[in-house]
Order: sequence, then C-alpha cells, then structure tokens
Amino acid sequence: MKSDYSVSKYITGLYAIEDPVLKTVRENTPLKGLPAIHIRPEEGHFLQVLVRASKAKNVLEIGTLGGYSGIWIARGLVPDGKLTTLELDPHHAAVAREHFALAGLLDKVEIRVGDAHQSLVDLSTQEPFDFVFIDAEKPGYTDYFIWCMMNVAQGGVITAHNVLRRGDVADPDNQEERVLMMREFNQIVADEGRVISTIYPAGDGLLVAVKVS
Ligand SMILES: C[S@@+](CC[C@H](N)C(=O)[O-])C[C@H]1O[C@@H](n2cnc3c(N)ncnc32)[C@H](O)[C@@H]1O
Repeated sequence: MKSDYSVSKYITGLYAIEDPVLKTVRENTPLKGLPAIHIRPEEGHFLQVLVRASKAKNVLEIGTLGGYSGIWIARGLVPDGKLTTLELDPHHAAVAREHFALAGLLDKVEIRVGDAHQSLVDLSTQEPFDFVFIDAEKPGYTDYFIWCMMNVAQGGVITAHNVLRRGDVADPDNQEERVLMMREFNQIVADEGRVISTIYPAGDGLLVAVKVS
C-alpha cells in the first residue's frame, strides 16, 4: 500500500493554498542549502487547523528546518500564543529566523538552537505545552513522545510527522529499519492509554494524539 498523493493534491488545491510568503519560504529552502524535507502544504494547513481548533497558546515544534511548518503552525495560534521551535543545526535555525521575519512572526516564535533532547530538559521546568509537533530525527520519536506525556497539558495535542513512511508501515513484508522503527513508534502510541490517537493519512501521515488523562 502506498499513500495516495492524488488525495493530498486535491486537499491542497481546496484548502492549503500557499500565500506568497509560504511559497517563497518553500522555494528558498533548498536554495539556502537546506534539504527539502519540510512538510507538505496540506499537512501544514492541517496542523494550523488543529492548533486553532485546540486554541493552543503554548506550542512546541521539534525540528525547525527553514521554518516552513513553523509558519503554518504560528499562523494558527491564538493572539497571545507562542511557538517554541527546536533545531540542532545553526544554519537551519538562521535561515528559519529569516523566514519567520519575512512572515512577520518573530514576536510569536522562539527558536532554540541545540540538540532537542537537551532543550527539552530545560523546557521541562516551564509551564506545560498545549500542542507539540514532532518532526526531527526519527530514532528520537519515542523519547520525544515520552517527554510529551510528561509535559503536555491534559487536553493537549501531540502530533508527529512521517508516521506512514509513504505507506510502507502497512506492508508487513517491509522489514527495513526505518519502517520497523516507525511501526514500533506507532504501536507505542496506540498502546498508550492516556491518549486518544489516530493518523491523518494525507501527505506522509501525521500522528494526532490528544492527551485525555
Ligand atoms: C524534517 S526536518 C523538519 C522540517 C520542518 N518541520 C518543516 O516541515 O518545515 C528535521 C529537522 O530536525 C533537525 N534535527 C535533527 N535532529 C535533531 C535534534 N536531535 N535536535 C533538534 N533538531 C534536530 C534537523 O536539523 C532538521 O532541520
């Protein structure tokens, strides 16, 4: 089974039309030497809908890259909301800062440079987050999720990108390491009784888990 990208395109054409800023940021990302591994427009728009629907005020992103997903997310914030976004690579963070400035969002976004696992230790002492988007290195996903279970408020939302691995997770014959890892992560979330969770199947699959207790 493979993800149906024609469905993604249909959703994008209806709801996830980029404005000139998002288009520029997406096109700029490879030109500035960053890999083009950002989310797709319909995934960004879906995150924005979730952020707005949950009235999230204190939002965290793990894996900034050039700020493309961060712009979608920050535009969904309530007026006094804030996005904290974590990035290992200083060059990625510098490009993201330029892009957040272009989007007029610097007052709503804080970029923390460094290994997210260390940044999360520091953030543990602050108020709980209402919404988290996990999109950094895949081997870290389980640790990030465990951290979220301790640091996301009740009623808060945890999301994670690439959880379908282009549909490969649903193919039992596929035993590649990258697929096994994501299958294991999805199972951990499915077995976690304190969340109600599902996968939004457009794009490369977005995990959505609501912390209910
Ligand atoms: C898939 S990209 C993020 C894409 C971005 N969310 C978007 O859609 O626009 C993953 C990013 O996570 C960063 N990253 C990888 N490991 C990390 C770590 N341990 N801590 C913080 N950032 C990390 C990478 O440098 C890269 O910029």
